[in-house]
Amino acid sequence: MAEIKVGFYGHVRQYHNLRAEIDGAIHDVLESGTYVQGPQLAKFEEELALYMGTKEAVGVNSGTDALWLTFVALGIGPGHEVITVSNTFFATAEAIWLAGATPVFVDSDPKTRNIDVRKIDAAITPRTKAIVPVHLYGLTADMAAIARIARAHNLLVIEDCAQAIGARGDHFAIGELSDAVCLSFIIQKNLGCFGDGGAVITNNKDLATSLRKLRNHGSLKRSYHSIGYNSRLDELQAAVLRVKLKQVDAWSELRRKQASEYNALLANSPLTLPHTPPGYGHVYHLYVIECDDRDGLQAYLSSRGIVALTHYPIAIHQQEGFPWGRGARIVDSLAVTEQSAARVLSLPLYPELTRQELQYTAEAVQSWTESLNAIGQRAR
Ligand SMILES: Cc1ncc(COP(=O)(O)O)c(C=O)c1O
Repeated sequence: MAEIKVGFYGHVRQYHNLRAEIDGAIHDVLESGTYVQGPQLAKFEEELALYMGTKEAVGVNSGTDALWLTFVALGIGPGHEVITVSNTFFATAEAIWLAGATPVFVDSDPKTRNIDVRKIDAAITPRTKAIVPVHLYGLTADMAAIARIARAHNLLVIEDCAQAIGARGDHFAIGELSDAVCLSFIIQKNLGCFGDGGAVITNNKDLATSLRKLRNHGSLKRSYHSIGYNSRLDELQAAVLRVKLKQVDAWSELRRKQASEYNALLANSPLTLPHTPPGYGHVYHLYVIECDDRDGLQAYLSSRGIVALTHYPIAIHQQEGFPWGRGARIVDSLAVTEQSAARVLSLPLYPELTRQELQYTAEAVQSWTESLNAIGQRAR
């Protein structure tokens, strides 16, 4: 195949595809003179709650704030432990530390790479207050098992759904088996705005009210305050998100088709391909393969003009300086997490990726594994 360039993101293509509607929405906000806490945010929250099938949606400034403010609103803080994973974006644990609580890391499942639910029981102590599963790469964690454990030990469950809007579990929806769901709308997410944004989805009206207060300097009524923070989702971002929310299901469908195509094209390669348990609706925020010589493959793809990235090559507990004097606990071993960190590679996958780009990328991965075979080294 002739050489082409394959980027990792389709942000500008996405904007061009929706240009008239997005430009119109931005223009209307600019002309309205209301740029924070206005009608766009209210309508977006209504539409998002409807889309997620929950009673409430509260817009905030980022996915990190969504997690942190939810912990604060639910009374998770100093003296409490929160069970989560180390193979996630840093913000999951950062928000636990910001709330003053201690993250407790359990290993990930070798197949799904989500929290290994068989390891959660051993992590529970009298200080445990919550479980924070991360729906990594767009695949929902085993929420049925997590909810069972949480009920048995009277724990809160907060879903880190930054990567998985639109995903489905086997017989459960996101938000159905937890206290709250945290979303991120940073541009590279499956629903992304032009900057930072986030939201909390919940069926708990009191939690939603606390969050509305916390995000606005502890104020629900002009001039009346308690201590909160400034974490508002502004009108421009809300207006853009309203346009894009209508596309999320179609985009998820395209992502699933692209993942199937990669799966078919790479079926005979010895690499580890993404695993979806039966009944789950994966939304492929990322298409992540695993391979022993990950750095070699990444460099080869780069030499062919293809950008492949790593999510996440350094797990949280492996970061330099961890845990920065804040405290953290590791349960048993994080062997699967560490093995994944050394092996993961994300191939370009996004709704705007062309078929030619996808096939070119798959062909390059195949040539690399074949060239290793030719010199007697087997890619795995
Ligand atoms: C799993 C996960 N949690 C939390 C976040 C934090 O979201 P934000 O960047 O919007 O603060 C992100 C993404 O950035 C993420 O991928």
